[in-house]
Amino acid sequence: MKVLIIGSGGREHALAWKCAQENRVTHVYVAPGNAGTALEPKVSNVGISADDIDGLIAFAQRERIDLSIVGPEGPLVAGIVDRFEATNLRCFGPSKLAARLEGSKAYTKEFLRRYAIPTAGYATFTSANFDPGYIRLQRLPLVVKADGLAAGKGVIICETHAAAITSAQEMLAGSFGAAGKTIVVEEFLQGEEVSFIVIASNQQVLTLATSQDHKRRDDGDQGPNTGGMGAYSPAPLVTPALNLRIMREVIEPTLRGLRDDGNPYVGFLYAGLMIAADGTPNVLEYNCRFGDPETQPILMRLQSHLTVLCDAALDGHLASVEARWDPRAALGVVMAAGGYPLEFHRGDIIQGLEVAAGLPGKVFHAGTSLSEGQVVTAGGRVLCAVGLGATISSAQRQAYALVNAIHWNLVQYRRDIGARAIGRERAGESRGERGNAER
Ligand code: AMP
Ligand code: GLY
Repeated sequence: MKVLIIGSGGREHALAWKCAQENRVTHVYVAPGNAGTALEPKVSNVGISADDIDGLIAFAQRERIDLSIVGPEGPLVAGIVDRFEATNLRCFGPSKLAARLEGSKAYTKEFLRRYAIPTAGYATFTSANFDPGYIRLQRLPLVVKADGLAAGKGVIICETHAAAITSAQEMLAGSFGAAGKTIVVEEFLQGEEVSFIVIASNQQVLTLATSQDHKRRDDGDQGPNTGGMGAYSPAPLVTPALNLRIMREVIEPTLRGLRDDGNPYVGFLYAGLMIAADGTPNVLEYNCRFGDPETQPILMRLQSHLTVLCDAALDGHLASVEARWDPRAALGVVMAAGGYPLEFHRGDIIQGLEVAAGLPGKVFHAGTSLSEGQVVTAGGRVLCAVGLGATISSAQRQAYALVNAIHWNLVQYRRDIGARAIGRERAGESRGERGNAER
């Protein structure tokens, strides 16, 4: 079987690496891929952009690709799955209408309200009906969001009413392009964030291993928001009881609502949740794809064949398959270019990858490319070094041993990935507990 992975980040390297391990998979193509996928056995890159749907369809037809898996949200929201299906190509991901769950925050808030799924209170505005008076009546802080896709940058947390009004006006005036023509102003939620990722096939659900991401750039959850600076799996916060609540209060009503609206969901579904002190799982956002960097530690732990799970979802018998997980914890540290998430430099030679390749764990590439035989930086998030261990703290040690072997000019990374989970792990050990939701 031939597999095509669409995208070029760390998530796509992990997807390609995982699929290439299956005996029944003869070859994995990645469009356009990165230096990591170029160097992976049984994997090759194809020079077609993830947004070039016509080019991807032509390639998949010519190479007789059996299964395509879409990594990023852009092509999903643009309707790549509908287009592939119209040409009888198997493509794993939600349809254009189902992908609106990520493509439009205003649509999603209205959907969540209509189906009574827990989420922050909100109002939606366009420049035609914007009302600063509404903002002045709200409690602070307030969150102002661009409706459309903004590469993780369209969310501004405002500490004053004046700042919220200015942010709203700037977005409506075009600071985020078309994505900000409609805005959502919402209540700021307290709590702890978790990433809850499932494979969905209409009403059938396979929950993936739990995970948590670190959104802020700097240690101690300081600095600007990023796409994610590191992640680990499992997330000790997500106990079996919380898992059940999330399924009952969020995932199941979401999939039912989508079906009732005529947009059944097939694909990875990622709920970004803020868990309140009383355990309420509030939806912050939906992503219509796998998380990045959550994919890297989650797939390090997946022992089942990923293409078998995708096939089962596409064929409507997801309920008949199970996923087996490595009981060990996995933890990934993102190594980013200096300056990320703002301006950053590209083209720096990455040193130490050969040394890291001899160490336990796995270095997934994200923003890298090959230049005259050397691996160079080519994006903000450059690598994700993933360690495995009996505990999160031993997985963390393995991951940082990889990080310490690698260097380039102005590399930056957090030194505290997993800290909160390790605190929980230690508190649990001192109470004599063992294990988590999956063990
Ligand atoms: P989003 O793209 O909507 O997930 O927002 C990006 C990040 O902003 C989230 O991962 C949270 O860390 C933060 N955030 C978004 N909405 C809220 C909210 N209502 N309350 C608190 N933090 C939020
Ligand atoms: N790690 C956050 C995301 O994938 O959006």
